[in-house]
Amino acid sequence: MARECIGPATRPLHGELEVPGDKSIAHRVLLLGGVAEGVTRLQNCKVPGADVRSTIGLLRAVGIIVREGADEIRVAGGGWTALGAPVDAIDCGNSGTTMRLGAGVLAGRPFAARLTGDASLRRRPMSRIIEPLLSMGADIRSEGDRGLPPLIVRGGALRGVVHRPAVASAQVKSAVLLAGLQASGETTVEERVPTRDHTERLLPAFGVPVRTGTPKARSEGGIRSITIAGGSVLAGTSLTLPGDFSSAAFFIVAALLVPGSEVVIHNVGLNPTRTGLLAVLARMGASVEIEQTNAATAPEPVGSIRVRGESLRGVTVEPELVPRLIDEVPILCVAAACAEGTTRITGAAELRVKESDRITVMARQLRARGVVVEELPDGLVVEGRPSRRPGSAPPLRGGVAESGDDHRVAMAMAVAGLVAEAGICIDGAEAADVSFPGFYARLRSLLGG
Ligand code: S3P
Repeated sequence: MARECIGPATRPLHGELEVPGDKSIAHRVLLLGGVAEGVTRLQNCKVPGADVRSTIGLLRAVGIIVREGADEIRVAGGGWTALGAPVDAIDCGNSGTTMRLGAGVLAGRPFAARLTGDASLRRRPMSRIIEPLLSMGADIRSEGDRGLPPLIVRGGALRGVVHRPAVASAQVKSAVLLAGLQASGETTVEERVPTRDHTERLLPAFGVPVRTGTPKARSEGGIRSITIAGGSVLAGTSLTLPGDFSSAAFFIVAALLVPGSEVVIHNVGLNPTRTGLLAVLARMGASVEIEQTNAATAPEPVGSIRVRGESLRGVTVEPELVPRLIDEVPILCVAAACAEGTTRITGAAELRVKESDRITVMARQLRARGVVVEELPDGLVVEGRPSRRPGSAPPLRGGVAESGDDHRVAMAMAVAGLVAEAGICIDGAEAADVSFPGFYARLRSLLGG
């Protein structure tokens, strides 16, 4: 188990940086490229994190050639029928996206596959994809209790459905759409709360038309519908990944917490379904400037984010906003711990079934740092411990934190180390490699050494 120690910051953070390419988009481009006809090229994916490697592994296991060059990853797709039965179980590692979206792809293929993963992934609920895929005619079952992995997918003929996910989940939406591409008739997903929309943004780049609109079943609470046609043939494409906003979030908060800091992050994805953290930080009093740098017609908006160290105040985060910042809650909790007043986050029960139970884990971690935290069934209440006066003690207590094998907890606690007396050492620090290989070195580079 690796240990990394960070902080305390003895001077402001200064610098310009980029973060690794977006993990959510990478999974989707790779999977769509794997079933498309022709080559798909993916740029800005130089050192893929472990999660993206899991998706590359899944594609290779079903016979797709994926080449990792110095500048790009190339997927040699041969259409849906080029996928073949895997010899062994497919190890999805820590990656829920690989397992859920992978099951959507495999649901319509005429062979059996067993999808498994690490201890964390084997605790994550799969009924949310099993049920809609069963309703489409797939033969899919879980080997674990109550819908837990491993999954056995025996693909076959599928029919289109209208699915209204019970939980706000882009993974469920995407699994159903990926299965729907192979089905007879149309498939529609109706969302009550919009979730990240990378799949529907990418499909047209692979030649698949997508219809979005307001669902007929408004009375049942749906507010956004996404429809695709079955029997779709995809054509390979080229795409450059924007930097991952969820990775940039750690540096945004790091710069805010250390007074006098100024950090610019270039080439970051600014998809509004992902940037809910910016809306919350603005209400907390943060100074964050955004400049969109790419064409408005590109599948994903990209730009620069400039952040200056600022005093923050506590806020209430409404449940409607949560899907737009779900992966940023651990680092938002660190910002809240250093803000003036109370921050209340609710409607975030999904955090309990992420790579760890992020509600319990973050409450425990922050309490160990001297922060008063109340754990709610669906969120947290964090009492801030601000300390902005020059020369005064940093707000957090230093010591050893546990990553709990969760990449976002590891990185959030590393940022907390910047404002902890004597800094923080993270045990299980290697968890960060799931999404951000080289994270600690990048953070230290802003500290000036
Ligand atoms: C993801 C969707 C989210 C997010 C996860 C990545 C995706 O999960 O938390 O890190 O790439 O679709 P849910 O779909 O479970 O909300």
